[in-house]
Amino acid sequence: MKVDGRPMRTIWLDADGWGVDVIDQRWLPHEFRIVTLRTLAEAATAIRDMWVRGAPLIGVTAAYGVALAMRENPSDAHLDQAWATLHETRPTAINLRWALDAARARLRPLPPAARAAAAYAQAAEIAEEDVDINRAIGRNGLAIIRAIAARKAPGEPVNILTHCNAGWLATVDYGTATAPIYLAGEEGVPVHVFVDETRPRNQGASLTAWELLHNRTPSTLIVDNAGGHLMQHGRIDMVIVGTDRTTARGDVCNKIGTYLKALAARDNGVPFYVALPSPTIDWTVNDGVKEIPIEERSAEEVDFVQGLGADGKVSRVRVSPEGGRAANPAFDVTPARLVTGLITERGVAEASADGLRALFPERG
Ligand code: MRU
Repeated sequence: MKVDGRPMRTIWLDADGWGVDVIDQRWLPHEFRIVTLRTLAEAATAIRDMWVRGAPLIGVTAAYGVALAMRENPSDAHLDQAWATLHETRPTAINLRWALDAARARLRPLPPAARAAAAYAQAAEIAEEDVDINRAIGRNGLAIIRAIAARKAPGEPVNILTHCNAGWLATVDYGTATAPIYLAGEEGVPVHVFVDETRPRNQGASLTAWELLHNRTPSTLIVDNAGGHLMQHGRIDMVIVGTDRTTARGDVCNKIGTYLKALAARDNGVPFYVALPSPTIDWTVNDGVKEIPIEERSAEEVDFVQGLGADGKVSRVRVSPEGGRAANPAFDVTPARLVTGLITERGVAEASADGLRALFPERG
């Protein structure tokens, strides 16, 4: 996507040919900062402290983290160390484990001297694959948007609600939930996006709203609790969200608050779609509520909000009484029965074991 007219991705090789450049998303939308990761430890910190975030981008950053580790020391022991260090950074997004398992499987049989180059090549492949997947999700999702647009008065926009940031900043490019929206814009299908602010870290307000503004996609920021009201008044035509892990039977784990939107959508007959790249499917689990580990993040994220002060500086302010207790589960699970369809790179699947298996028969 473009930032101020300049084509950008979220992760790329530095001019030195080995450092890994990323957009430090903690400062958006107020400051656009790029940082270079040069060690395994820095890659792990970037994921854990959410300089980069979003399931697909976490996976790609982890793959580059392994490459940085192999440059430091290509031994078997350090490969295992890299896997463990990166794996413990964020527990819910399955793309992390998927990328790490793929890296270890490819690198282990190679002589140590060949591992760093192979790891960089593999990370680049995973990044390219992410872009291709997202474009395909965009095409498949666009067909749904077009069908809704066809039922509306000519020129009237399709109103789409989204939660958190499943945009290009959460991936390498295009995003998952935003890919159909960006394609709709390119193809002249009028869309308007309602953006949930997504407390506590405000990925909607800080990242999705910023992306859409830069892309000139019409959007309106709303507080997390407004979605149900808008649905009751017929102001939302469809919901599209991303996912951090979807189970083999179609239960969808995504940013906290997604489940409440799915309940409101069901109650109001609003279609609820999930944009799902296949590396985000965890074929080893079925019951998302019972089996997916939910990341518990620091209570500080609930107690404080970050923003731009009157002095023009980014700072934090406390919103809760000092000494009180806060809890911060970062994700929730929307059961498959509440999901209208899973928009994958291979087509739109029914959210069920049969639906997913029909599109991915190699998974048996
Ligand atoms: O905690 P985050 O910001 O990493 O959470 C991101 C989300 O929940 C996204 O919706 C999800 O990763 C899908 S991104 C294409």
